Amino acid sequence: MVAEEQQERTQPRLVPIYVMGKRYEVPAELTIQKAMEHAGYQLIRGCGCRGGICGACGTVYRQPGSYRIQVGLACQTIVQPDMYIAQIPFFPANKAIYDLNTVVPTGETVAALYPEIFKCFGCNTCTKSCPMDIDVMEYMSQALRGNVRKAAELSFDCVMCGLCTARCPAEQVQYQVAILCRRIYGKHLTPKSSHLEEAVSTVQAGKFEEKLRELMGADVKELKKRYVARETEPDMADESWKPKAREDL
Ligand code: SF4
Ligand code: SF4
Ligand code: FES
Repeated sequence: MVAEEQQERTQPRLVPIYVMGKRYEVPAELTIQKAMEHAGYQLIRGCGCRGGICGACGTVYRQPGSYRIQVGLACQTIVQPDMYIAQIPFFPANKAIYDLNTVVPTGETVAALYPEIFKCFGCNTCTKSCPMDIDVMEYMSQALRGNVRKAAELSFDCVMCGLCTARCPAEQVQYQVAILCRRIYGKHLTPKSSHLEEAVSTVQAGKFEEKLRELMGADVKELKKRYVARETEPDMADESWKPKAREDL
C-alpha cells in the first residue's frame, strides 16, 4: 500500500480526455484548464483569473455514455475519464449600448434595451447551467417585472461566463440584462456613500501623489519587501477591523 502511494506520488494516475476531438492522457486530479495546458495547449483566450472569478473559461463537455451536453468553468471543473471537451473562448451575445448617466432608472429601460426578455418561457435551463449557483431564471423574471433592485441583488455573484446564454433556447443574454440592472441600481437607486465621496475628494486633492511617485520610482526588491510587510485584514476579522497604519487612508 505504501509502495502504491509512493508510486502515485511520483507517477500520477492518468486518464484519457478528448480536447476538440483529440485524445490526451492527463493526470486525473487536474482541472480542465490545467489538463489542457498539460496536453500542450497555450491558453491565451478563455483564461483569466484561474480562480472561478473572471468567467473567461466557459467550457462545454460531455461524459461518455451520456447524450447530455454539460457546461462549467474550465478552471473549476475536474477532468473525468473520456470526457469530450471544447472551450468557448468568446460568445457573440447581444450587447445593448447605453449611456448610464442618462438612462431612466426603471424596469422599462431594461425592457426597451433588451426586449427579448419577454420571450423567456421559464424552462430554467439557465439556472441549471450556472456554475455560480445563481437563480438565473428568477433574476430574469424580476427584470421582466421591472424590479431592477431585486434583479441586481440576485445576480450579484454573476461572473459573466455566458454559459446561461449559450444554453438558453430563447436566446436571452441573461448576464447583460443582469449587469444593466446592477449598473442602474448602483448608479441611480442606491443612496450615495458619504465616505466614498470623501475618499474620492481626498484622491482628487492629491494627497497620495507624492507616495505614488515614490512607489513608481522604487525598484522591484523594495516593492516586494513592502508587499510582504504590508498589513492585511485577518481572515476572520469583523466589520469593525481597521488597519493600525492610518496615514495612507
Ligand atoms: S434558459 Fe432562457 S428561456 Fe429558459 S428560463 Fe432561462 S432565460 Fe428563460
Ligand atoms: S448568470 Fe450566466 S453569465 Fe452569470 S455566472 Fe451564471 S451562467 Fe455565468
Ligand atoms: S479563468 Fe477566471 S473563472 Fe476560470
